[in-house]
Amino acid sequence: MDLKNNLRTSTEWEIIENTFDPDQLITTGSNFMIGNGYMGYRGTFEEWKAKEYVACIVTDTWDKAPGSRWSELCNVPNGLFTQLFVDGEMVSAFAGETTDYYRALDLRHGINQRSISWRSPGGKSIQLDVEKFASKANHHLLVMRYGFTALQNGEYRLITGIDGEMWSINGEHFRSYTSFEEDGMLGLSLHTSENSTHIVITEGITLSGKAPDTVGVLKENKRCLHELTFSLKEGEKVSFQKVVSITHSNEVDHPLALSKQEVISGLAQGYERLKEEHQKKWKDFWERSDIRIKGNVEAQVLARFNIYQAYIATPVHDNLPIGARGLSCQVYQGAAFWDQETFNLPMYCYTHPDIAKNLVTYRHETLAGAKRKAKRLGYYGAFYAWTSGKTGDELFPDYFFTDVLTGRKIRNHFNCWQIHISPDVVYGIWLYYEASLDWDFMRDHGAEVLFEVAQFLVSRVHFKKDKNRFELIRLLGPDEYHENVDNNAYTNYLTQFAMEKACWVFDTLKEQDPEKLVRIMHTVGIQDEARDHWNEIAQDIYLPKPDEHTKVMEQFDGYFQLEDIAPGELRKRLIDPGEYWGWPNGIAVNTQVLKQADVVQLLALLDGFSNEVLTANYEYYEPRTEHGSSLSPSVHALVACKAQHYEEAYRYFMESSTIDLYNASKKVMSGGSFLGGIHTAAAGGVWRILVEGFGGFKVTREGVAFSPALPKTWEGLSFTLMVKQCLLEISITKNNITVSSDPSNEKGITVTLKGKPAFLEPGKRVTA
Ligand code: BGC
Repeated sequence: MDLKNNLRTSTEWEIIENTFDPDQLITTGSNFMIGNGYMGYRGTFEEWKAKEYVACIVTDTWDKAPGSRWSELCNVPNGLFTQLFVDGEMVSAFAGETTDYYRALDLRHGINQRSISWRSPGGKSIQLDVEKFASKANHHLLVMRYGFTALQNGEYRLITGIDGEMWSINGEHFRSYTSFEEDGMLGLSLHTSENSTHIVITEGITLSGKAPDTVGVLKENKRCLHELTFSLKEGEKVSFQKVVSITHSNEVDHPLALSKQEVISGLAQGYERLKEEHQKKWKDFWERSDIRIKGNVEAQVLARFNIYQAYIATPVHDNLPIGARGLSCQVYQGAAFWDQETFNLPMYCYTHPDIAKNLVTYRHETLAGAKRKAKRLGYYGAFYAWTSGKTGDELFPDYFFTDVLTGRKIRNHFNCWQIHISPDVVYGIWLYYEASLDWDFMRDHGAEVLFEVAQFLVSRVHFKKDKNRFELIRLLGPDEYHENVDNNAYTNYLTQFAMEKACWVFDTLKEQDPEKLVRIMHTVGIQDEARDHWNEIAQDIYLPKPDEHTKVMEQFDGYFQLEDIAPGELRKRLIDPGEYWGWPNGIAVNTQVLKQADVVQLLALLDGFSNEVLTANYEYYEPRTEHGSSLSPSVHALVACKAQHYEEAYRYFMESSTIDLYNASKKVMSGGSFLGGIHTAAAGGVWRILVEGFGGFKVTREGVAFSPALPKTWEGLSFTLMVKQCLLEISITKNNITVSSDPSNEKGITVTLKGKPAFLEPGKRVTA
């Protein structure tokens, strides 16, 4: 079936491209990428170089290029680099004539495939077939099978090896390149400029088919290559398997030895065996994570594509952050934002709690960085980094955007006023706890984070004596067009949430494990009265309440007084399309136009708002939202479901799920900054829309509840959830919903369907 933008699918498990569009190199490189959470390898062609945006981004390699203010992940040399020449002419998508063009991404198995028939400008034809994957069985490995058939007699030259000229957006990261050659393998050993991280890329190949006439090694600039020549007759074939191992000293003690050894053993196992092991891991993943949509092929592929992209962005092998652009490029520094907790974590909490645990553990492991940030800014407790890498120290620079009209730098206060990141971290930990009931984690790690965040908030609130309430001033909510606001609804409500959870954990520990509580209090440096402070703030923090008549909550103090204008109208005031809309002088600053809606976001995360309030706020804020953030559409889809605006929910679902695949993102450039690559939060948001929006899934105190609403064109929606240690299979059709409890479950669970609770024993099902 045809999708959009020259894409199609045949089994609903892949995206296939049948024509090559040279104007879409950035987008297609991201969309067709392979990865395993340790590395992301863009879906580019083997013969391409930096100018075609080839990249292999490796996590845990944060480093600043000399003179740059960006601490970002390294794009490491391309170990799959391969060029083929026929009578001196290079096989290329940009020259000669390509027929039977096929590029595909197999979402089920995480495999990228390419095949073409190609005729050189001189009239020689070949058939080329390539397949590659970033192994899920050993995250250091990239594996490729590259084969070609001569369709006419000719002289063929093949070079394959490692290309060290990288597409690095903020400068060169490596201060030394040493190439090596050992037992037929080639390698590059590199050291990064700032942190001296030792990175090693080793590759080896095994040839099959017609034997080469000559074999040599070519070292030029930052490349080291095997060079092979063949005189081929019509119909003769050559192919090789390649294993690349990428290791670095932030993860392993002896990256050089390990890298070589992994290539040797990978080659010994062979392509098919490596592929089998890799596919098995993917199978395990999809068993829990697939969402099946009946009656709409496009929606089905979009669901799988987004889950795929969210997953390959997640460093499942370690407690490391999910980058806002995953590992698709260096934009946003490979670092975690609030996106991680609010958009990506939920999927894992309910499908792969082990991965969710890594992510929340990461926040515990980066507590020291969050405490350093709080201290630096004059607070105490934990103020989590807006942009968080390995250590949790703030990576976001003071200056991000540039005024495209004056060329002057803009001081954005994302790093110091967007304090909601700390309660967002609590939200994530709570979500994980509620889903998994993992008290051990809460006791050993979560509690400390909750207490440190609570302490930070204690140091950040102001008590207004005249109003007898706590307030939060000088804030930046998720809506980044309005900086320096007071009492941002989202932040204030989330602060209350964080304080309540800190109190609950404190009280539970006091009852169940008082000695442990004393130890944590000692670590955090608090006395009993701290809990009273948290409770007072939870009770008395000012929460903008729904207006008595309109039921609308004010996004921040004074918001309703701002000019009320539609985003489309406002846009006409732009002098330059690349202008930043926000602080200090952007066109949105003195208007009610939002980048992303804080109140809608609040309604998406926290329960307890009546349907009337949900609907009124959705209807008020939606037309005022510009969706300048890729996070915005999925939140709107989710809340549109809650507000029973199902058609709009579907429109926003389509918008969110196609941001990358159909290149629907409006903003590759904003305020002079390049913001391309995979929008990982939007990908995670798609899961939320499907399960929590259309599936109407909610965790309740006793168990789970569902109140589904299928989009008109769908016949069915089914998925698997792991909630409160019960594995559940959910199947929704136009007329009913069935929840089945897996026979392996050790206990029952209360399932509320369309408002009616029922206790579900293991192995049983309930239908409404
Ligand atoms: C959004 C933030 C988001 C960041 C990273 C920004 O454009 O406004 O909410 O955290 O991108 O995705």
